[in-house]
Amino acid sequence: MKLGVAILAAGKGTRMRSALPKVLHPLAGRPLLRHVLDAADALGAARICTVYGHGGEQVPMAFADADCAWAEQAERLGTGHAVQQALPALDGMERVLVLYGDVPLIEAETLNRLIADSAHTDLGLLTMTLSDPTGYGRIVRDASGKVERIVEHKDATEEERRITEVNTGIIVADRARLADWLSRVSNDNVQREYYLTDVIGLATSEGVHVVTAEPEAPEEVAGVNDRAQLAELERYHQRRVAECLMRGGTTLVDPARIDVRGILECERDVFLDVNLVCEGRVRIDADVRIGPNCILKDCEIGHGSEVLANSIIEGAKVGAGARIGPFARLRPGADVGRGCHIGNFVEIKKSKVADGSKINHLSYIGDADIGSGVNVGAGTITCNYDGANKHRTVIGDGAFIGSNAALVAPVEIGAGATIGAGSVVNRAAPPEQLTLARAPQKSIRGWRRPVKEPKT
Ligand code: UD1
Ligand code: CA
Repeated sequence: MKLGVAILAAGKGTRMRSALPKVLHPLAGRPLLRHVLDAADALGAARICTVYGHGGEQVPMAFADADCAWAEQAERLGTGHAVQQALPALDGMERVLVLYGDVPLIEAETLNRLIADSAHTDLGLLTMTLSDPTGYGRIVRDASGKVERIVEHKDATEEERRITEVNTGIIVADRARLADWLSRVSNDNVQREYYLTDVIGLATSEGVHVVTAEPEAPEEVAGVNDRAQLAELERYHQRRVAECLMRGGTTLVDPARIDVRGILECERDVFLDVNLVCEGRVRIDADVRIGPNCILKDCEIGHGSEVLANSIIEGAKVGAGARIGPFARLRPGADVGRGCHIGNFVEIKKSKVADGSKINHLSYIGDADIGSGVNVGAGTITCNYDGANKHRTVIGDGAFIGSNAALVAPVEIGAGATIGAGSVVNRAAPPEQLTLARAPQKSIRGWRRPVKEPKT
């Protein structure tokens, strides 16, 4: 069965009060529309067409990489009119599924169920039952329980408004019949719009049996109209991510205080303290502990390592058994080996730090190759930038860099070398020797402090 998906995204999103079109607002770090496109992809849709309008080309431009056709709905004449705009691009499809750009959390599983259940008929409808159905289109059924039509809240009678089964807006239909029904929908209603929902009445009048399905959770079909609803769906989504992590063997101190904006993979017995933010692709091996308030982005943390509070790791790799933080910052290209200790207020960028080395306090290490078993003293800086170009610092295995050294790159410190504290090193320091590059200490006998002049 060739499935085409029409995604309606021409709405104005007035209540967002934003310069950004609504469907570009992020949920879990990705635009609302991206979630819907992903759901359509997960169904194996043969073709997708998104109907856009408000915000102009901004929306298609933001999804230039998506395998999706675009249809402009210049005038917002209703959901039925919107679907009509998508139909030409879905020519040759057998069925058309209608989704919404501002209904981001719809599950492919639910849609597959709707599609399967309605496979033998020409129209399937996703409905749900709400204790407060205000605002929604109501599902009107006949005495035998068969769907008859949908009546919009604004057009409904008092009696119809008491119906609690509502239209989610999501339908799947035979493409040719849908096109025919839509061509016959009028805008003779309170809102003067061409309602997609009117196709249900047309279908049943032609003897089509309308099959319905319901989603597992109401959040799946919840739309985003304002920022409060966006935040609610964000929390719902994050809660589900947290539950999935816990089921997989990860301890979360508080499942309400984690935000995953991307993909987080944890092996067994990972311990995550509160307020972790993950972005991009993060991989955490078994027995790792992440302290409170950490930010992890596109990184890998090796087996048994510990990341202490308030550390930021981005585009970096941490080997097994390492200890990072508190307050450490690993920037892109940091590759920290097994058993390393990277302490507070240490920043590392584009540098390899081999196994067992320690940089424990207040350092900047940029564009460096640090061997194994190296100790970098507090306050040491690689002076990697001369104002025009970046240069590398190479430190051999087992070197000891005294506190507050300035290593002026390009420079090489030999294996086993010792650099005296406070040295400014701008030439190669030979292996195994002590290198001192600081003003020699002297003491001046008989020196007197100045005395304050008496006030007159
Ligand atoms: C619609 C349904 C209603 C259902 C409800 C569920 C119709 C007529 N009514 O009502 O039965 O209970 O959704 O939330 O379908 N859109 C366009 N172009 C248009 C009009 C709408 O792209 O010309 C898009 C909007 O951006 C929005 C969606 O379609 O994402 C729904 O439109 P909206 O006007 O909000 O429909 P509702 O009144 O909520
Ligand atoms: Ca609406």
